[in-house]
This record gives sequence, C-alpha cells and structure tokens, in this order.
Amino acid sequence: MVSGRHLRVLSGILPALWLLCLCLRHGATAPVEADCPCTDPSQCELITTPPRKELFAFVVEDSNWQKYDWSKITTVGMFIKYDPKLMCHAHSKGARIVLAVVYPAANLTNPAARTAWIQQQVAQAKSWHMDGVNFDIEYEVSTEHAHYVVDLVKETAQAFKAYNPNAQITFDIAGVPDCFLLGRCYDYTALAEACDFLFLMDYDFLAAGPVALPNSPLSVIKFGVDLLKVVYGVPSSKMVLGVPWYGYDCPCVELLPDDVCLVNRTLTLSKPGVGSGSVTQIQYKDIMKLLPKSSTGRLFSELFQSPYFNYKDASGQTHELWYDDPASLALRYDYARAEDLRGVGMFEADSLDYSNDPLAMNQTKAMWDAIDKF
Ligand SMILES: *[C@@H]1O[C@H](CO)[C@@H](O)[C@H](O)[C@H]1NC(C)=O
Ligand SMILES: *[C@@H]1O[C@H](CO)[C@@H](O)[C@H](O)[C@H]1NC(C)=O
Ligand SMILES: *[C@@H]1O[C@H](CO)[C@@H](O)[C@H](O)[C@H]1NC(C)=O
Repeated sequence: MVSGRHLRVLSGILPALWLLCLCLRHGATAPVEADCPCTDPSQCELITTPPRKELFAFVVEDSNWQKYDWSKITTVGMFIKYDPKLMCHAHSKGARIVLAVVYPAANLTNPAARTAWIQQQVAQAKSWHMDGVNFDIEYEVSTEHAHYVVDLVKETAQAFKAYNPNAQITFDIAGVPDCFLLGRCYDYTALAEACDFLFLMDYDFLAAGPVALPNSPLSVIKFGVDLLKVVYGVPSSKMVLGVPWYGYDCPCVELLPDDVCLVNRTLTLSKPGVGSGSVTQIQYKDIMKLLPKSSTGRLFSELFQSPYFNYKDASGQTHELWYDDPASLALRYDYARAEDLRGVGMFEADSLDYSNDPLAMNQTKAMWDAIDKF
C-alpha cells in the first residue's frame, strides 16, 4: 500500500526522472546521429582513414552509383544534388564523399564574403555528413589576385579540419598549369600546400585546334606533371591524375591523308574545349555504340597514345572521333603509378553504360578494371 506522503514524493520524483532520461537519451544521440538519414546510423560518421592512394570519382547523375565498382573508390565528388542514400552508401564502403563547390568569382577579393561563404560550406557539410570539399572554380584569376584563391583554400581547410581533422580539401586544376592560354594564374605551389591534393583535369587539351586531335594525349599529361613538379615544386603525393571517360566527335570539313581531319575553324574556335559548335563531347557509352559502325575500326595513334576512328553520319559527312578506352587509360594509370602520384580519377563515373546488356556490362567492367593498373 502506498501512503499519501509517498505519492506526493513520487509525483515530485517522476517528472524529474523523466526529464533526466530525456536528457540522457538526447545526450547519447545528438548532435551527430539525431538527423542521420541512413538506416545504419554509423554510416553518418565521417571517414577517418588517414591519407592514402586515391581513386577520385566524380558523380554527375543520380542513377548509376549503385553499380560503380566501390571496391576501388576512395572519394566521390558530388556534382549532383545532395542524395542522402549516396552519402550512406559511400560511407558504408569506407569512401569519402565531398561537396563540389564554386566560390563566386565576383567575391574573390572580399574577405568578409569569403568568411561567410566558408561558414556556410561547413554548416552544409555538417548537416549532410560530408567529408570535405572539392573546389572546381575553373575561372580566370590574375597573378595579382592569385593569393585570394590560396587564402580561400587555406581558410576552408582550417575551418573543416577544426571540427574534422580527417576532412579532405581538394582543388581542380588544368592538367597543364597555365596562366596565358586559360588565364588561370593560380599560385600552384601554395595551392598544393593549402589542400590535400590537386585534381589534374587531364582532358580537353587540344579541342580548339584546326584539326581533330586527342582529348588527353599522354605526352601532354606528362608535360603537365613535369611542370608541376619541376617548376612549381608540387610533390607527387599532392597530384591526382584525372582522365576522361569521354571523347571528342569532330565532323571533318575535309579528311586529308594520314587521317588528318580538318574541322570547321569558325565553329570550333568560337568556344574552345567545351564541345560546342562542330566539335562535341561524347561519352564512352555512346562511343562504344558508334565504333561498330565506323569505316576504319579502332585506330591507335602512337604519337599521342590515343585511340580514334572515323565514321560517316546520316548525311554522309565523315567524323573523326578521339577517345580513351581501357587500353589507353591503362597506359595513363600505369604512368601515374610509375610517378608515384597520389591517385587517379575520372570525369566522370556516369559516362559508362550501366544497363544489364551483356556487351555493355563487359565494356563497363573493363573500364573499371583498367584502374587496377594504378
Ligand atoms: C558576395 O558576398 C555578399 C556578402 O556576403 C553576398 O551577399 C553576395 O551574394 C555574394 N555574391 C555572390 C555572387 O555570391
Ligand atoms: C563552317 O561553319 C560556318 C558557320 O556555320 C559555315 O558558314 C561554313 O560554311 C562552314 N564551313 C565549311 C567549310 O563547312
Ligand atoms: C569482354 O569480352 C571479351 C571478348 O568477348 C573478353 O575477352 C573479355 O575478357 C571480357 N571482359 C570482361 C571485363 O568481362
């Protein structure tokens, strides 16, 4: 039997106990896991693996990532709208997932805007359980303004590493560091020091010329890596070699001997390298559909170490198509290994055919398997 006095005591204690339980429960789950969208809350934990060899994969579509070869991927760069399922999946495979970010060029010289922007990125990364950021600014910067880009990257890295010492901050640069042609007068030395590694965009090299040329010639890749090493003092551990999983389709105004395809200069030079006008980018999956219809079959340029073929379109015009396939990519991965680079990556992982068609499955597997050369 419970006396009236006991009841009074209990009625005082129970809410207190209830409050205590609530606090304990709250303390145990908040703040990291309270908002975790993963079925397994441990998948919201950030990746703590120390610096390692990298396979950096850019995700640009939200439909294929379940079919990637996750045994190879160490980091995914999220070029799509945030998909919590992708985050959970990447973490479940031990891979980092980083936000692709572009700092507005108009605010480059504005330190207050920079600070505000960095705080915004950190808050975003925290709420989405992201492991860092990949800078893809790609705009012109004068030599006088180069230090602003370094400050941006340095302060971003500091802000991220303050709450996550294992955060990864990376920066995309053209495969050949350049000030004059592309106007990207970055301080490559200081940038490499400020971030975890540079992602070398080793593609779009020769698309602006008067003749069709390869997207990613091996000699130019080597030239860029040598420049970064020798002129800018960037260590190999700070370079990830990014290769294209796409090619360039060039309609020929005239096909000269030795497969020299003259392209329409008027159209091509209007927007170099972006695949507008007469020269267009084409994904590996679509190249593989065109190859059987080619008039030449797969040809291989010893000079550039790149495959190509010619085909005629419906109107009868000859096209020359330069691309990369498992054999040519293996040469590039092999080079990255020989140079002891930090890693390799591709733009982009969604260029392949992830359907259940047996031939496509074979071609897609061969593309992923070629990475083993690294
Ligand atoms: C530049 O910074 C200001 C102040 O933080 C901000 O209001 C503005 O939106 C920024 N500009 C761009 C282009 O993002
Ligand atoms: C090149 O493109 C321009 C613009 O469309 C066109 O006027 C011209 O006839 C083309 N030249 C050739 C040789 O096809
Ligand atoms: C793809 O098919 C070819 C020929 O049918 C075969 O030699 C090759 O081993 C296959 N590759 C893969 C990755 O399955």
